Amino acid sequence: MQTDFLYKDCTLATMEQGANNYGLIENAAFVVSAGRILWRGKMNELPAEYTKLESESLEGRLVTPALIDCHTHLVFGGNRAQEFEQRLKGASYSEISKAGGGIVSTVNATRNASDEELLNGALKRLDALISEGVGVVEIKSGYGLSIEHELRMLRVARKLATLRPVKILTTWLAAHALPPEYAGKNANRFDDYIDDVVIPGLRQAASENLVDAVDGFCENIAFSCVQIERVFAEASALGLPIKLHAEQLSDQKGALLAAKYNGLSADHLEYLAEDDVPTFAKSGAVAVMLPGAFYTLNESKQPPIESFRLHAVDMAVATDCNPGSSPISSILTAMNMACTQFSMTPEEALAGSTRCAAKALGLQNEYGEVKVGAHAELAVWDAAHPAELSYWIGASLLQKRISHQEPS
Ligand code: NIG
Ligand code: FE
Repeated sequence: MQTDFLYKDCTLATMEQGANNYGLIENAAFVVSAGRILWRGKMNELPAEYTKLESESLEGRLVTPALIDCHTHLVFGGNRAQEFEQRLKGASYSEISKAGGGIVSTVNATRNASDEELLNGALKRLDALISEGVGVVEIKSGYGLSIEHELRMLRVARKLATLRPVKILTTWLAAHALPPEYAGKNANRFDDYIDDVVIPGLRQAASENLVDAVDGFCENIAFSCVQIERVFAEASALGLPIKLHAEQLSDQKGALLAAKYNGLSADHLEYLAEDDVPTFAKSGAVAVMLPGAFYTLNESKQPPIESFRLHAVDMAVATDCNPGSSPISSILTAMNMACTQFSMTPEEALAGSTRCAAKALGLQNEYGEVKVGAHAELAVWDAAHPAELSYWIGASLLQKRISHQEPS
């Protein structure tokens, strides 16, 4: 039987909605009961009924909610180091993609990899995230591009949750690129691919409980808004929430489409027009910032951060871990990049990988804040102030995670 437990002597960054200055509580303590926060506050305000509980001193360390990586492509075969070399010699991401490389080269490698190879590759990246205090990870399909291989990716993602104490949410991203068998010399068969693979595969994934949300890549080198809308209509019919890779390389009005379908989030958004921010804000969707992709592709157009602030759009920060545009399995590095490249504050970056990331996954109230009733998924840091989490690069800051998640 699980008993209540008291953690004391810490600095809590609660990251609670509406609180100032990281929701910081110094000389803090908290009580965990059945895996949830029962009480948190100043040590000298600890109710008498909790003083006798079994306890542990955290020796003055900083405690935050466990971090959340709300946008990853963690499961894939091979890597694209050679494209990295090509880009350094001047080829652009779009040019490589149009020449048949890019996402499609990872599709070939993923189809050729065994389940075990996919699992072991993803485990390495997952362990890297966990070692930085991550407790929740979203993982997309999108490198299989056939029903068989897309479902295989999702099964591997689900399997990861049985091997590590981490919550994993899966996303159907079959509308990521056109597989070679649908690319024609004269005409690409996008609609046939959606009819044959994206929609029936999604139905099957839903029926096997393999999918938690639906995503697409809305871009001039990928799918149009009209094509993505067909996928979103099916997601809505199945009762699944949507999110979208939008406005990464050009303004396609994808964020407005995500807003129209009450999306959880729109992700990337470098090319989102300032004029569209108010409509996007009204939908309540989260803007997921992916500075790792911006950095890796050497982009220069920043997302409209100031406009997001002005219209109170929640901004999340994620790694976008993938072999092409963002070979990064460090959420702390993504937070640092959000500050240095997008001028986000360290507080916004931490909110971006906790409270706002939880919202981008539909997990608000349950994860991402240290508050009464939330899951007691926490990270204990060898740091005195939460700005340090965005400041250090490559440091081993995590002392330990406090987790009540069992591998499922
Ligand atoms: O989020 N933009 C589309 N999808 C990924 C890149 C995938 C890849 O290049 O393999 C992204 O950046
Ligand atoms: Fe992505």
